[in-house]
Amino acid sequence: MPLIIKDEYPEVLFRKDGKRLDGRDVDELRPIKMDVGIIKNADGSAYLEWGNNKIFAAVYGPREVHPHHLAKPDKGILRVFYRMATFSVFDRKRPAPGRREKEISMIVADCIEPVLFLELYPGTSFEVFIEVMDADGGTRCASTTVAALALADAGVPMKSLVSAIAVGKIDGKRVVDLSGIEDKAGEADLPIAITWYNEEVSLLQFDGDMDLNEMNEFLVLAKDALNKIHQIQLDTLKSKYVKLQEEISKENVEIENKGDS
Ligand code: CDP
Repeated sequence: MPLIIKDEYPEVLFRKDGKRLDGRDVDELRPIKMDVGIIKNADGSAYLEWGNNKIFAAVYGPREVHPHHLAKPDKGILRVFYRMATFSVFDRKRPAPGRREKEISMIVADCIEPVLFLELYPGTSFEVFIEVMDADGGTRCASTTVAALALADAGVPMKSLVSAIAVGKIDGKRVVDLSGIEDKAGEADLPIAITWYNEEVSLLQFDGDMDLNEMNEFLVLAKDALNKIHQIQLDTLKSKYVKLQEEISKENVEIENKGDS
C-alpha cells in the first residue's frame, strides 16, 4: 500500500512566490539541531533534529562480537542498526526490520567505515544503533551524519567526520535537502555522503532522472550544503568540550576554596 496515496501529492512543489512549500529557497537546508552525550548507558551518543526528522544514535564498542562467527581476526567490524519507530511515519510502520531498514543500515556502515581505524581493533565490534523517532525525508543522510557524530562522541579514533545530504530535482528545479513530500513527488533524489579527511564521496545513490552534466551541478550544490552540516557537527562536538572545561574549572575553584577555608 502506498504511504501517501499518489492523488494526495501536491500538484506543484513551489509556491507562487518561488519558495518551496515549506518556505525554503532551492539551496536552503531545513533547520538542523544536534547534541551529543544524551544516552548515558552508551559509550557515545548523538541526537539530531533535521526539519521534522528526529533521530538518536548510540554507539557501543569496541566490544566482543556477538555472534562470535562475525568477528574478524585481523580487524574490528562496524555494525549499524537503523530502525524507524512504528509511529515515525504517517502510516504505522511494521515493527520488524524491513528490507529498507537493512539497506540503510548497510549503506550507513559502508560510508562511515572508511574513516575508522578498524585494523587497530581485531576481533571486536563497534555497534551503532540508530532510532528514527520522526521521519520526513532524508533519514539515511541524517542517520549517517548523526552516527558519525555519535562515534566521535564515543571517542572512537576517526580520520574525520562524515556528513551527508540529499539533493534532487522537484518541478524541474535543483534543490538541496528534500523533505518527505519532495522526495516522493519530485523527479530525482540523490543522497550523497562525504568523508572529510580526503573529501571523497562515500555514498552516492540515485533515484530518478538526470544526465551526467546535471549530476555535476548537483555535486556542486551538495558541497555547499555538506560544508554547513559539517560545521554544525564540529560546533556540537566543540561545545561539549567547552562545557566540560567549564565544569572542570568550576570544580577546581571549589576545591581551591575548600582548601583555603
Ligand atoms: O528517509 P530517506 O529519504 O533516506 O529514505 P526513503 O526510503 O527515500 O524514504 C523517504 C521518506 O519516506 C522517509 O524519510 C519517510 O519520511 C517516508 N517513509 C514512510 O513514510 N514510511 C516508510 N515505511 C518509509 C519511509
